[in-house]
Amino acid sequence: MPTQIAPPFADRSELLVGSVIDASTALLAEQQHDIVRFAMGAPSEDLMPIAQLDEAFTGSRSGRYDYGETEGEPRLRAQIMELTSQRGIETSDERLLVTTGGMQGLDLAFKLFVDPGDLVIVEAPTYSNGNATALSYGADLLPAPVDEDGLIVEALPELVARTGKTPRAIYTIPNFQNPTGVTLSLRRRELLIELAERWGAMIIDDDPYGRLRFEGEDLPDLAGIAPKHPLLFQVRTLSKMIAPGLRTGWIDVDPAVRALAVNAKQAMDTCSSVPVQNAVLNYLTSGHFETHVARLKPIYRERKAAMLAAVERHLGGLATTTDPEGGFFLWLTLRGDAAGLDTEALFPAALRDGVAYIPGPAFTVDGSMRNALRLCFATSSPARIDVGVSRLASTIKRAIAAGEATRA
Ligand SMILES: Cc1ncc(COP(=O)(O)O)c(C=O)c1O
Repeated sequence: MPTQIAPPFADRSELLVGSVIDASTALLAEQQHDIVRFAMGAPSEDLMPIAQLDEAFTGSRSGRYDYGETEGEPRLRAQIMELTSQRGIETSDERLLVTTGGMQGLDLAFKLFVDPGDLVIVEAPTYSNGNATALSYGADLLPAPVDEDGLIVEALPELVARTGKTPRAIYTIPNFQNPTGVTLSLRRRELLIELAERWGAMIIDDDPYGRLRFEGEDLPDLAGIAPKHPLLFQVRTLSKMIAPGLRTGWIDVDPAVRALAVNAKQAMDTCSSVPVQNAVLNYLTSGHFETHVARLKPIYRERKAAMLAAVERHLGGLATTTDPEGGFFLWLTLRGDAAGLDTEALFPAALRDGVAYIPGPAFTVDGSMRNALRLCFATSSPARIDVGVSRLASTIKRAIAAGEATRA
C-alpha cells in the first residue's frame, strides 16, 4: 500500500476543530465503571417519552420514504408555526425550514453570513459547537463576557472598536445559556437589536432551552421585541424538549434568507429524514407534547436544587455556581483553596473517581476559564447528583492536598 501518499486536504480542513462535548459521548461509552454523567447536555432516557415516540413512529404509517421538500414536510411546518405562536411569536410558512437538529441551523447561519476573516461576536463562555461551526467558515471570533444577566451587551461597542472591524454576526444563546445557565435581560435584548442594526450584523439566536423555564418569568424572545426582523436568524431544536436522536429542528428567518438556506441545505442533505419528520409530526399532534414539557419542569427544578445543595454540602467554600431558572446546566467556578486547579488536568482523575463534566476551557475561544466547569443537572436523579458532586469534591480535595492548586 502506498502509505507515503497523503490525501490532499483542503486548507479549510485545518479549520475543523471538532467538539470536546461530542467526543465525550464516545469517551464515556468506553468506560466500564459507574460514572455519574454531568457531561452531556441531553435529557436522560428516563425522561424521554420513549413509548410515545415508538408509537409515533409505528403509528405514522405515512408510507413515505421518498425524498421530501427541502423546506420540510408541510404538515410539520404547520405544527412548528403552532408551537411558535404559543410563544407569542409571529411567523409564517415562508420563514421556516426544517433542519437536521439545531446544529444544522447553526451551520446554515454561519455558512450564509460569514466569510473568512469576518468578525463574529460569541459569548465567553459559549456552546463550543457554535464556535466550531463559525470557525469552520473562517470566522474571526471575538469573545465577549457574560454575567448573571447574560451577554454583557453594553461592553460590545468598546470590544468591537478595538478590533477595527465591523461584526458580521453575533452568536447568542439568550435563554438558560449553554454552558452557564444565565438568561439575557430584557434591556440587553433591546440593546442587542440596536447594535445589530448599527453594525448590519446578523443575530444568530440559538434557543434550545427557552421552553424549559422552571422558575421565574418568561422574557420576550428577540423576535417578540423585533418581530420578523431581517437581521434575526432563529435556530430552534426539539433535541432538549423531546429527544436529541430525532435530530429535528428548524430555522425561522426572513424569507429572502430562507431561500438561500434552502439552496445551502440542498447542497448538504437535500432534506431532513422524511419518516422522522412524520413521526415527530405524529408525536406533536398526539397531545402528549405539552404534557411532557409540563412534566419536565418540576423535575428539572428539583434536580437543579439538588445540585446546588450538593455543591454547598460537598464543596462549600471551594466553588461558586450560577443559579439557572431553566434549561440543563450550571457553571461552577473553583475558588478558595481550589481556585488554582485546572479542570482539564483534573478530568482524568474525576473520570476514574466516577464523575464526568465538561472542563471550562472547552467553552472558550482561547482555552481560558481553566478553573471552571459545566455541570448538567438534567440527566441525573437528585440522589445520583449528590453522589456525583461528592465524587467531584473528593477529586478536588485530593488535588488540593497534592499541591496541584498551587502548581498550576
Ligand atoms: C446552545 C445549543 N445550541 C445548539 C445545540 C445543538 O442542538 P441539536 O442537538 O439539536 O443539534 C445544543 C445542544 O447541546 C445547544 O446546547
